[in-house]
Amino acid sequence: MTKCPRSISPPRVVNIEDLRTLAQRRLPRAVFDYLDGGAETEKSLRENNRAFESLTFRPRNAMAVPHCDLRTEVLGAELAFPAILAPIGYSRLIHPAGECAACSGAGKAGTAYILSTIAGHKMEDVRAASTGPVWYQLYLLGGRPAAEAALDRAWKAGFTALFVTIDTGTAGMRERDIRNGTGQLMGGNWLGMIPYLSQFFSRPAWVAAYLMDGGLHKLPNVVIPGEGPMSLLDVAAALAESVVTWQDFHWLRKVWPGPIVAKGVLTGEDALRAIDVGAAGVVVSNHGGRQLDGVSATLRVLPEIVRAVNGQIEVLMDGGVRRGGDIIKAICMGARAVLIGRAYAYGMAAAGEPGVNRAIAILLADLERTMKLLGCASLSELNQTYVEVPRDWPAAAR
Ligand SMILES: Cc1cc2nc3c(=O)[nH]c(=O)nc-3n(C[C@H](O)[C@H](O)[C@H](O)COP(=O)(O)O)c2cc1C
Repeated sequence: MTKCPRSISPPRVVNIEDLRTLAQRRLPRAVFDYLDGGAETEKSLRENNRAFESLTFRPRNAMAVPHCDLRTEVLGAELAFPAILAPIGYSRLIHPAGECAACSGAGKAGTAYILSTIAGHKMEDVRAASTGPVWYQLYLLGGRPAAEAALDRAWKAGFTALFVTIDTGTAGMRERDIRNGTGQLMGGNWLGMIPYLSQFFSRPAWVAAYLMDGGLHKLPNVVIPGEGPMSLLDVAAALAESVVTWQDFHWLRKVWPGPIVAKGVLTGEDALRAIDVGAAGVVVSNHGGRQLDGVSATLRVLPEIVRAVNGQIEVLMDGGVRRGGDIIKAICMGARAVLIGRAYAYGMAAAGEPGVNRAIAILLADLERTMKLLGCASLSELNQTYVEVPRDWPAAAR
């Protein structure tokens, strides 16, 4: 076990919120808000967290639970605990080690990492950072030819499952990014950047690390045939140009030999469509409240999807997981496992890979303690009788 740096040890860092505070201190405002923020009013972002808070536990007391079995199987891979590291685009902006640090942290903890299409590190280097399962998330940036080349590379490199994100028909309206001049800052026009540069003066450590890392990188895994790697600046337009549809899943099943998961399902109807097009699973997700503002918290709609799927494919969920108890609540409501996004990314921002490790360690300790306090020795025993669901939640959840 590598030693945890003092800066992220107790009493300074006790929970994920403490890592968020450190992330805010280390990152320039534009980068912190890119990570922390959501779309429009940020209602869906807040609701994701609130939904976990509004579920209460129903423990079985006077039970001796000396050991908890936290293992689970997802897409044929055995995981040490039921949380997977979600794809976070531009992770290299958050910390130079970015995607490699996250992947390495996941592997050491015995869980899987999902690499975003919008990565700053080469997929082969990311894959090499872990001996555990590593999966690839797909945006159709650059259209099918670029995607086919990336998928061929990913499969050969050892990525074994594909997560197709379906909630990104266009980029969500992130108001914080507009106020911070994120577009101008990435635009390369110095005159346009000037009004927004002052936020970097107070973050010299981040600026030094960013410059030492060579500044803004092109996307090494989105290679446009005849043109080369796509630039970050072109991503928003490219996303809107090449929207993934259910028809694309038929093509993807021909070009991708492994399981395919639809990420971004929020209704029973879409879950059934995913089954129709041959998906092996769905992620109940609202993109961490970053796309369509005003959609339900994911925990609230999870049971509708679990019911629609009826055991035919695997159901994962994400959005708002900040404590191990949240992971248990999601499993009680029918998820096989969760994806964690900001929880580990705050750790990465605070301290690179040790910060990712610390975030995972916090969630793991929470998980084990909560299982013991619930009087439950194994994840397979968890069900909805361990939680009380608010009366005003949709019927499928009660
Ligand atoms: C900064 C940031 C970047 C993200 N980039 C991607 C991405 O490239 N692809 C994707 O499918 N989801 C992306 N997501 C969504 C996450 O994969 C995940 O669905 C979400 O973060 C879960 O919510 P949580 O952060 O509350 O855990 C991103 C989320 C954040 C916070």
